[in-house]
Amino acid sequence: MVTDNRGYAPDVRARLTADADQILARYPEARSALLPLLHLVQSEDGYVSPAGIAFCADVLDLSRASVSAVATFYSQYKRRPNGEYTVGVCTNTLCAVMGGDAIFDRLSERLGIGHDETTEDGRITLERVECNAACDYAPVMVINWEFFDNQTPTSAVDVVDALLEGRPVTPTRGADTVATFREVSRVLAGFEDGRADEGLGAGPATLVGLEMSRAKGWTAPAPESEESSEGSEGSTAAGGTGQAGTDQVGDAGSSAEREETTPADTSAEPVTKSEEKGSSE
Ligand code: FES
Repeated sequence: MVTDNRGYAPDVRARLTADADQILARYPEARSALLPLLHLVQSEDGYVSPAGIAFCADVLDLSRASVSAVATFYSQYKRRPNGEYTVGVCTNTLCAVMGGDAIFDRLSERLGIGHDETTEDGRITLERVECNAACDYAPVMVINWEFFDNQTPTSAVDVVDALLEGRPVTPTRGADTVATFREVSRVLAGFEDGRADEGLGAGPATLVGLEMSRAKGWTAPAPESEESSEGSEGSTAAGGTGQAGTDQVGDAGSSAEREETTPADTSAEPVTKSEEKGSSE
């Protein structure tokens, strides 16, 4: 509970301080922790509140103006209470061509709100969003950054109606459910919920290029290394050693340096939703 713009109640502050200590321990420079700290206070208040700004400034020994300058720069930080679910409709080039604008207009009409506005019940914030790197499934809608691919105005309204009625919705890829804005903010602060590798991340449309390269025997050039730079030539797409992309998940340098929580963390093979479920039973 936020008391006022001077700070949090003592118990809340103690809890956030313990979390902040964990975040700060990850960075050699304390100031580098500002972005996750902003997500942390957002997970507490549902937006970057005045109390949250003051908290970050105190923890990092920065001015509130400095913290505000960062918080206002990135669109993922909200300066007023956000809805429980952020419904983002991609209206960037490809999605717009495929119907993104029509989807946004229909949702705007259904919800009675425009871009960056929130329904009166605090349930949904509607946004136009930029490319989500899911153009192969255009037009795309994201709800708290979970994908809803190949949408139409009708399918998008059906999903949003379910949210309004409190019914669960299922993303077309990734996690089986959509976490709330506050829950997702805590994950973005660096506190994992164990669901990062739920379901399929890359579906058939995304894998067309990979399948084609496998069928044709194409491989990426091996990365430049001391050994290869000393004369081991010929590691090309046509006659290469095929070393690229062979690093195991979890090796040094891998993006999966967190603790192993799902089968996808320990296997380079795609893991289906049914396998995910089976492994947890
Ligand atoms: S243009 Fe919409 S996901 Fe890329």
